[in-house]
Amino acid sequence: MPASSLDGLIENVWTRCLVLPVLLGAALGQGGCRGERRDREPSPTSRALDVSSCEAPGPLRPLPSTRAGNEAEIRLGRLLFHDPRLSRDGTISCATCHPIERGGADGRNRSLGIGGAEGSVNTPTVLNSGFNVAQFWDGRARSLEEQIGGPVENPREMGSRWNEVVEKIAAEKSLRDLFEDVYGANVTEAGIRSAIAAYERALVTPRSPLDRYLCGDNAALGPEATEGYDLFRSLGCASCHQGVNVGGNMFQRLGVMKDYFADRGGVTPADYGRFNVTGRESDRFKFKVPSLRNVALTAPYFHDGSAATLEDAVRIMIRYQLGREVHENEVARLVALLRALTGNVPGELR
Ligand code: HEC
Ligand code: HEC
Repeated sequence: MPASSLDGLIENVWTRCLVLPVLLGAALGQGGCRGERRDREPSPTSRALDVSSCEAPGPLRPLPSTRAGNEAEIRLGRLLFHDPRLSRDGTISCATCHPIERGGADGRNRSLGIGGAEGSVNTPTVLNSGFNVAQFWDGRARSLEEQIGGPVENPREMGSRWNEVVEKIAAEKSLRDLFEDVYGANVTEAGIRSAIAAYERALVTPRSPLDRYLCGDNAALGPEATEGYDLFRSLGCASCHQGVNVGGNMFQRLGVMKDYFADRGGVTPADYGRFNVTGRESDRFKFKVPSLRNVALTAPYFHDGSAATLEDAVRIMIRYQLGREVHENEVARLVALLRALTGNVPGELR
């Protein structure tokens, strides 16, 4: 999909589903917005996934509990994701920064790449990333396959080159055999990208308490989280964090109602977000709205890692995205809801 149509989609979502309902103070996520979004979700990464399960009436949708994809390719991708030979000096694998058993992110403010080099933004989770409209905070990669080139060649992350990676992987007979089984071919860059992306698309975390609630199990959410879900919709969180990934389907400015960056200070080019991709002034400070699935596992928060706890992150959202005063009883209920978004990675994929 060309950049213009992706951005058109996003503008459209913004106007119809965020600005209008927020301005009108209307109940969010009902009717038109949700139905339309589903027809208009043509991202290459989400199309590959089977979004089925039960139907839910609200702006959030449950994750599918069945997995699409070729199991042998997923197993190969899992091995490659955990293989430090993807880095120049053999010290860093994808899982170093994205440990699956810890929510798919390493819990650091900034991850450390080869030689201890620090990145410029906080590491997002890889769990459920196949549902995102694009990859990276600024959406510069359109698919998971494309995204993989970033870390492998980034001198501050894995610092490698594809020809070296292919050579090192092909040197091991068991991996050569797996490539032969899955692709009927030798080890190639395209095969490595495809296998890792297939593994990432399988990293889906269904059956969280919220998913069970959305599928009709009213007791799955405790009373506090149920009230949190009502607030999430009535205050307007769901106008940005919505759909099957509770986020990941649009770009929005950090600081819609109040200037976040003026208050935080120390602005760097990494804070320009989507502007770095499109060069459009209106995209400055816009970021992909992150998925809130498993968010209780992935502190610290925001692209700058500035919020240490979920409570801090929610207070910032209330102030800067909704322009509202913070009430601690609301914060507690919203956090209870966010904690109910933790699902399970199937054991064989860890
Ligand atoms: C040194 C740490 C590090 C390593 C190694 C690393 N990543 Fe990342 N990953 C990051 C950071 C930081 C970002 C966010 C960068 C940005 O948005 O500009 C990211 C973003 C991503 C995203 C996008 C998620 C989203 O929601 O936007 C995916 C998918 C991903 N990485 C997969 C991988 C894979 C696959 C590998 C191995 C080939 C890998 N990463 C290696 C740190 C790392
Ligand atoms: C106008 C759109 C918008 C609204 C409304 C909104 N958010 Fe966000 N949210 C974002 C964006 C954009 C980010 C990422 C900002 C960044 O990192 O620069 C984000 C980030 C977050 C994060 C941190 C996630 C992470 O992995 O770092 C949490 C938690 C969160 N939002 C919760 C909420 C809650 C709860 C509400 C309602 C009180 C809410 N948001 C309302 C757009 C929005």
